[in-house]
Amino acid sequence: MDRTVLLLSVLSVLRPAVVALDNGLALKPTMGWLHWERFMCNTDCVNDPDNCISERLYMQMADVMVKEGWKEAGYEYVCIDDCWPSHQRDAQGRLQADPDRFPGGIKKLADYVHSKGLKLGIYADVGVNTCAKYPGSLGHYETDAQTFADWDVDLLKFDGCFLDWTSLGEGYINMSKALNKTGKSILYSCEWPLYEWAYQKPNYTAIRETCNHWRNSEDVFDSWNSIRSILDWTAKHQDIIVPSAGPGGWNDPDMLVIGNFGLSHDQQESQMALWAIMAAPLFMSNDLRGICPRSKALLQNKHVIEINQDPLGKQGYRTAAMNSFEVWERIMSNNSLAVAVLNLQDIGGPRKFPIVIIPSWKICDPRCTVTQILPQYKEFGVQNVQSDIVFSVNPTGTALLKITAINSRFKPSHKLFWKNESIRRDQTNTL
Ligand code: GLA
Repeated sequence: MDRTVLLLSVLSVLRPAVVALDNGLALKPTMGWLHWERFMCNTDCVNDPDNCISERLYMQMADVMVKEGWKEAGYEYVCIDDCWPSHQRDAQGRLQADPDRFPGGIKKLADYVHSKGLKLGIYADVGVNTCAKYPGSLGHYETDAQTFADWDVDLLKFDGCFLDWTSLGEGYINMSKALNKTGKSILYSCEWPLYEWAYQKPNYTAIRETCNHWRNSEDVFDSWNSIRSILDWTAKHQDIIVPSAGPGGWNDPDMLVIGNFGLSHDQQESQMALWAIMAAPLFMSNDLRGICPRSKALLQNKHVIEINQDPLGKQGYRTAAMNSFEVWERIMSNNSLAVAVLNLQDIGGPRKFPIVIIPSWKICDPRCTVTQILPQYKEFGVQNVQSDIVFSVNPTGTALLKITAINSRFKPSHKLFWKNESIRRDQTNTL
């Protein structure tokens, strides 16, 4: 064994195991649909019955998910966000759905969604109110957890508005315990770190022990600026957040906005590719009833989904940034690596990127296979370190690749990537 390999093995043994929330859920990043980015707090069912937050919306989405191949592609959770409840709790102090918009109630909706072989998610808040000023769960954690369990809900998105930041940890932990106490498996999606970052560095060990996924950065909008700023935030904090991801607990960069209005097709491919590299939960927020075929094919692309769902469960990260290109890499099972090459230059035409510049290209010594997954599927077959493949990447687009080592002794690792960052920058100056 050479010294580098020995050192890396020692480091991997020394690295403390990160303990996940022990509810047996989210062993792979969660996949589903969530209403917020596309439908927001539209409660006007009189004038806008097709787009308002009502039981009809989720039932229609569940129908389409089964009929149009979404369920088969892996999208399983149909999730309600803010603005579903009545402004008043019931006589027993329980949350209740708005009676006009949810005449059947949540239990009946859950039964419907389950009858389609799908799961239902609901939304609540750790503080006095939800972000849209509906009743929050503070002081009612056990009652609300039990209500959700009685309704047979499968996932809770727990927001962090209207609570003093010093109480966030206690609130999220107590709700986690309350959910556990119900005895029903309820996937727990948190926003704890997002609300804490404004004041201090969150404790990711505690967060991972408490939640199945957690939002770190600002809400996604339907724009390229928004996607870029989430990616920038993630790269800037990757040394803190990446090690905390793994089976049972994931960093959540927020919803996929593919199929809406604000992203070009290249940008939609960039979001899909990078969310796969980041091992992100894949919650689409779009209108599946009328989505364009190209966006649908992208969201259902089985090769990209396979990268997102890789069983090793290691989150990828940015490994190089040069000349308005970024390279993001994710270590996967079976000696494979997923690589996204993002062209951030939003002027001009497609730009060339020689494959040998990828920081861990060494895994192709002595040989590897290379497959391009986005923008088009293409098998390049067996390659070696001298490969002359050059990609052409559109402005704000991404080339997504899968590289599988053949008999390589090079084992990529987080530490190796980060230590060598400055060296890689020098090597890539020639682009
Ligand atoms: C916050 C969350 C969003 C959404 C809204 C609802 O902003 O971060 O994802 O849930 O609240 O009001």
